[in-house]
Amino acid sequence: MDEKALQKKLDESIDYIRKQTAVQPEIALILGSGLGDFAETIDIEDKIPTAEIPHFPRSTVEGHKGYLVFGYLEKLPLMIVQGRTHYYEGHSIQDVGFVVRVMAELGVKVLLVTNAAGGVNPRFRPGDLMIIVDHINFLFNNPLIGPSIPEEARWPDMYNCYDESLVDLVEQTGIDLKIPLRKGVLFVSSGPSYETASEVRMVQRLGGDAVSMSTVPEVLIARARGIRVAGISCITNLATGISSQPLSHKEVTEIANQVKDKFQKLVHEVILRIGKQR
Ligand code: HPA
Repeated sequence: MDEKALQKKLDESIDYIRKQTAVQPEIALILGSGLGDFAETIDIEDKIPTAEIPHFPRSTVEGHKGYLVFGYLEKLPLMIVQGRTHYYEGHSIQDVGFVVRVMAELGVKVLLVTNAAGGVNPRFRPGDLMIIVDHINFLFNNPLIGPSIPEEARWPDMYNCYDESLVDLVEQTGIDLKIPLRKGVLFVSSGPSYETASEVRMVQRLGGDAVSMSTVPEVLIARARGIRVAGISCITNLATGISSQPLSHKEVTEIANQVKDKFQKLVHEVILRIGKQR
């Protein structure tokens, strides 16, 4: 695919979305495993099944509903990705990040990414929320490989990848709402297998605090487009070897469900404060 073909794909997706919604989002949110319910708490104007949008990959994971939700949080126009696609589902990494190219075309300036992650830092506990301060990309791939459109940086700088002022904003919101928050580095590999105990020891040595199978493709595209990024991980389990128990996707979604209230409260307030910052 060349640059023109990429632009054409984007144009066709945007044309379809613009026909479905008049909302012009400036802030976008990607909801991770088990965290999708937040979308129901906003004033929804339009809910578009991603399966109907040209060129969108289909989400196949249980606990992930595939919708783009457009609406308002106290008059703030939002776009929410409910049911992200993962690289391990077999999509190309460019397709996994495609939704962020769409966001950029729609005018999004700030992206809040969320995910479920395993705790590697021994101080972390299931149910903790972690502000992502940086990531380590262990996907051995990058969604920016291939054609790049003129609006995108060819060699995006990873300085301030997770915007420091947004990290501070999330941290302060946690303090004000009395929701304890961790801070840490997210280590991302493809999955779908969870890590071995030896891999988790490697992650510790390399400086990761939590492990996940998502987020990096979307964040890299966002940075190439100059979208500011904030990230919150829900620590749904202790990573293999940190915990002596086997882990399961059920455990991940159950813990995500347990932290739902504090997660939603935090995200709600974070979005309002980002809105006030504009
Ligand atoms: N490893 C990788 N991804 C995850 C985990 C984990 O332990 N928990 C939730 N997502």
